[in-house]
Formats: sequence, structure tokens, C-alpha cells
Amino acid sequence: MHLDLKFPEHWDDIGSGQLQSAIARLGESLEQQVGQVAATEDEEELFSDLFDREYGFFWTIYSKVRAKNGRVTWADGGVRHFLRAPVQRILTLGLLSGDPSKYFISLRRYLESFVNNTMDVESFTLARALWESRAEGIKSAIGDSWLKKAPPELRPEIGRQYNEFVKFVDKYLKLRFSVIESGAEQSAFARDRIDLSLPGVHRPIGSHHLIRQVFQEIEDIFVSIGFSVVEGPEIETPYYNFEALNIPEFHPVRDDMDTFYLELPKGAKTPLLLRTHTSPMQIRTMEKQKPPVRVIVPGKVYRRDNPDATHSFAFHQIEGLAVDTDITFCDFTGTIEYFVRQFFGASVKTRFRPSYFPFTEPSIEFDVSCPFCGGTGNSNGGTCSKCKGAAWIELFGAGMVDPAVYGFVNYDAKKVSGFAFGIGIDRLAMLKYGIDDIQVFFQNDVRFLRQFP
Ligand code: PHE
Repeated sequence: MHLDLKFPEHWDDIGSGQLQSAIARLGESLEQQVGQVAATEDEEELFSDLFDREYGFFWTIYSKVRAKNGRVTWADGGVRHFLRAPVQRILTLGLLSGDPSKYFISLRRYLESFVNNTMDVESFTLARALWESRAEGIKSAIGDSWLKKAPPELRPEIGRQYNEFVKFVDKYLKLRFSVIESGAEQSAFARDRIDLSLPGVHRPIGSHHLIRQVFQEIEDIFVSIGFSVVEGPEIETPYYNFEALNIPEFHPVRDDMDTFYLELPKGAKTPLLLRTHTSPMQIRTMEKQKPPVRVIVPGKVYRRDNPDATHSFAFHQIEGLAVDTDITFCDFTGTIEYFVRQFFGASVKTRFRPSYFPFTEPSIEFDVSCPFCGGTGNSNGGTCSKCKGAAWIELFGAGMVDPAVYGFVNYDAKKVSGFAFGIGIDRLAMLKYGIDDIQVFFQNDVRFLRQFP
């Protein structure tokens, strides 16, 4: 098992205090990862990731603190915390197991990998403090948490092992110190540094989440025909989420969008809620910008839905909005058809059905012929599992912008016209990639994520 630590992105720019807390956080994550280790060979890998010469995670931290503070000492709370984190974890595991004596080996491995990789007096001094500092060193910690707390019948055995361990570590430290003092190590190190044949430290590289990939795919298609991408806040006011979209208070469609309101201090100017759709960005965009407007808005939205295979209280949409002086229903259908063909393939057919949204008039629901059975409803001699035999798949809601909406953003409804659409990304991704449970998008199980590198 390899260590996975996320360093802050801009930590050359952060202040000393923030550096300390960043390191403390890394320490916590380290403590957790050490806690997950079961097999001893795993431990070795983990600790070598940490202390492997210059390349170990610890040395990265070491050099950062050095760059900030000049010297790194045991008094440095962040560093101390970080170095202590695995120790803490091992001590706890030992205690919980009922027989701490089996865990001396882990402590030994940890200390050894650190001590072995100290290069100079400064780093060696840290290692020595980690061992024998009175307040927080490993030596006294074993006494406090294993010896004193051990059941009486185990105490002699733990005590015996403890004494042996102390002898061993003291000797080990002495040896290392003489190597460092003689300078032998430094020149050996200098030789080592250019040994390119040494295997490197494995740092796992992540990939984009499937949802992010689908966003990207869709953004590329719309950008190629002149749309630009804007993003908006996930916390909205009722004005943007509803009223300015021509959904007055007590309008029944609000029921479908039941959502999360934030608890605010008394006297707050306006209620706040998690946006139920990306449509508020239609308003925000038009408030800021005169026509022509051509934007898409990718983002997260929220509704008070109970989670099941097709519902989640958080999901993703891409809003689209085009407004200009001469936009017709033909531009609208043409744009959407272009998008669908790019996304699903040239052979799909499209169809519109009348629908209702307060902020579009006319409103439509947009279907594509099922791309998986070629719009026949049958596949492999049976009913198509994707469209359930319907031959059509319902894709998203859209329509021509209702002139009433222009009133809210000071557009002249007599001069401009436009269209808007709201695409549900999760649904689209599920369709295209044959995923039958929306929850997998949010569970972040790597076995799922790895299938979409
Ligand atoms: N906002 C609508 C929804 O979430 C979708 C939509 C967007 C419909 C734009 C028409 C125009 O259901």
C-alpha cells in the first residue's frame, strides 16, 4: 500500500501559521492511512514513501519548513505532529489488540526508516527527539500507553521487550550518528543522487470523474458553435431561483423543486437555498450582459429527493441560453439537434413534445430515438433495455424564453427572442455509458472510477 498525501497547492505562498496547520492536516491523513495497514510488508512501503531519501513525503515537508523557518526542530509543532501521527496510531492499535508486544516491530520499522534516511545533524536530531523527547517521544509514550496500561499478566513480557527495544534503538541511533559525523553518508548520498536506475516513489495519479468528463464533452460541443461557459453560485436567493424565472411564490411548480433552505441568523435580508436548477444563471447572465447572449452553465443542483437508482439530492445540469434580436424556433431545434448528433452519433432522430416551464413559452420536452436499438425498441431479439421498448428516450426540458422573463432583466421583449434548455448530466452519462444506478457517481468507489480513466 502506498501513501497518498495531498499537499496544499500553493504552499510556497502561505504563512507560517497556515503551514503548520497544513502539516497538521497531513499528519491526520497519515495517521488514518497507517491505521488501515494490516500486513507488515505494507507498512514497509508506507514508511519508505514517507522517508525515502529526498523523495519521501516527509522530506518535502522538511524542505518547506526549512525554506520558511530556516531550521527545522522538534519544537516545530506541525512537524512534530506529523512525525508523531503514525506513532500515535501504532500505540493505539497495540493497545486495542490486547497485546501490544506484537507492535514493537511496527515502531521499530518506523524509526528505522526515518533514522536510516537522516542525512545531517539537523535531521538526525529530529529523529533522536522523536525517540527520546520527554514529553512526546516514542520512548516515554510506550511507557505511558503500553506499560502502564497493560494487564498485569502481560506486563513482565512487555517490560522485557521494552527494555530490549530501548537498547536496540539507542545503539541504532549511536551508529547512525557516527556515520553522519564522519561525513561518509553525505558523500554516499551525493553519489546516490544520480543513480537513475533506482525505482521511484509511486504517486498515484487521479483522473477526471465520469461526470466531469461528460461535462467536458458537452462543453466542447457547445463551445465549437459559439457558446461560452459560465458558472454560478450553488447557494441562491429565491429571487433568482424562482421569482425572476417567472415562478411566483405559491406557484405549484415549486412543489417539484422542493429543496434545502439554509438556516440564517434572524433579520437576514433574504432566505437562501441550494439552487434547484442551473436556470438562475439565465437571469444573472442577462443582468450583466446585453444581447447577444450565448452561454452554457455547467453545475451542481439540489432537490429534496430520496436517493434511489435514479434520484439523488444532488445532481448535475448544463443550462443553455441564447438570446439575440433574431433567434427563431428553427435556430433552437437546429442547435439542439446538432448537439444530440454530436453527442450520441449522427443517426439519432429527435422529437419535441409540448411541456410546461414557467420561464419558457412554448416549452418542450426533448426526446431522441434510442441510440442503442436504433429507435426500434428491440435489441438482440428482445426488448431494448435502455428505452424499455419505447424506441424514444426522454432527454431534457427546453423552450423559447418566456417574454415575461425579459421584464426581470431589462431586456426589450419586443426586440429580442431566444431559447433555453436544461440538460440533466447524470441521466445523460448513465445512458451513454450504460450505468444503471445514479448513486455510483457520488460514492467515489475507485473500482467504479477506474473504469473511466
Ligand atoms: N430548469 C428546468 C429544470 O430543471 C429545465 C429547463 C431549463 C427547462 C431551461 C427549460 C429551459 O427542470
